[in-house]
Amino acid sequence: MNLDGIRNEAEQAIQSAQDITALEAIRVKYLGRKGELNKFFDSLKSLSLEEKRTIGPGLQKLKLDLNEFLVKKIAAFQAETGMQLSLDITMPGKKISVGHAHPLTIIEKQIREIFKALNFSVVEGPQIETEFYNFDALNIPKGHPARDMWDTFWLKDTRGKERLLLRTHTSPVQIRFMESHKPPFQVIVPGRVFRFEATDASHETNFHQVEGLMVGKDVNLANFKFMIQEFFKRLFNRSVKIRFRPSYFPFVEPGLEVDLECVRCSGKGCSVCKQSGWLEIMGAGMVHPRVFEAAGYNPRDWQGFAFGLGLERVAMIKYNIPDIRLFHSGDLRFIKQF
Ligand code: FA5
Repeated sequence: MNLDGIRNEAEQAIQSAQDITALEAIRVKYLGRKGELNKFFDSLKSLSLEEKRTIGPGLQKLKLDLNEFLVKKIAAFQAETGMQLSLDITMPGKKISVGHAHPLTIIEKQIREIFKALNFSVVEGPQIETEFYNFDALNIPKGHPARDMWDTFWLKDTRGKERLLLRTHTSPVQIRFMESHKPPFQVIVPGRVFRFEATDASHETNFHQVEGLMVGKDVNLANFKFMIQEFFKRLFNRSVKIRFRPSYFPFVEPGLEVDLECVRCSGKGCSVCKQSGWLEIMGAGMVHPRVFEAAGYNPRDWQGFAFGLGLERVAMIKYNIPDIRLFHSGDLRFIKQF
């Protein structure tokens, strides 16, 4: 391959070109797709590895040098003639498609704003949790049947002797927060949680909760009822009926489930509420003394309420979404409606 010959020939041609059109022709001749240099590159294929190693870099350098030489010459022409790259301002612009927030992001933001207006602070916690924070500190010791309430993704990694898991609820952040703060306080904890369970129209393996925790000298369930009613009123922009049902969570006593009157059928009974007229939306209750102890508080000094709300369930009710799996389906026909 006579690379020097080609180099001289091309450089001379560029040097003596009279205008931009001539330069373009030279570019096509030497650097174009079917140009001289590409012919050399093609012939490299039939050479041995050794030959490729000696010739390849020189060929590559020649290509870069000629390119640079051409660009310089074009710049020189432009400087000489005062010519600028032409800009056609009448050309139609390119349509820029603007995205928007995911419905879950929208509703989480609304929930944060409402609670902030009710004087709650927003805190967050880790998605990878230790067994201690997710279970033991919440009064769910090893071997306790209540652990079966949360089908868990356990991780192979450990932290020291501690087993690790993907948090099954946002409740562990109750402990983390109390360990480093003194009451009185009121916080919410929005975040992603994970459960090793079969999916259906209202269950996902990966969903979001908003935990709430208010602790003080005399915080009681009446405070909770007022606060949660106010929250739903602001979220749905109207009064909605709620009901408390006794329930069991090891980390509260008494424990309850909060149901919302079905917003679709106004309590008459429909397919969404499985004809019951009510939608189960959150677990709640008064913080269990053992939880206060685990966080280092004296349970005789403090009392408070806690709740855990399913974010997807709220979004489904607010936007009339029939299937929870749509949220992570990546289907633009769904996403674009919000
Ligand atoms: C809990 O996770 C408790 N940590 C809630 C709690 C907090 C109780 C503080 C008392 C005090 P539960 O497993 O019921 O509870 O879940 C709470 C809410 O999360 C449910 O009411 C529901 O709205 C939502 N949820 C539960 N499982 C799923 C799932 N697989 N997919 C979507 N949402 C779910």
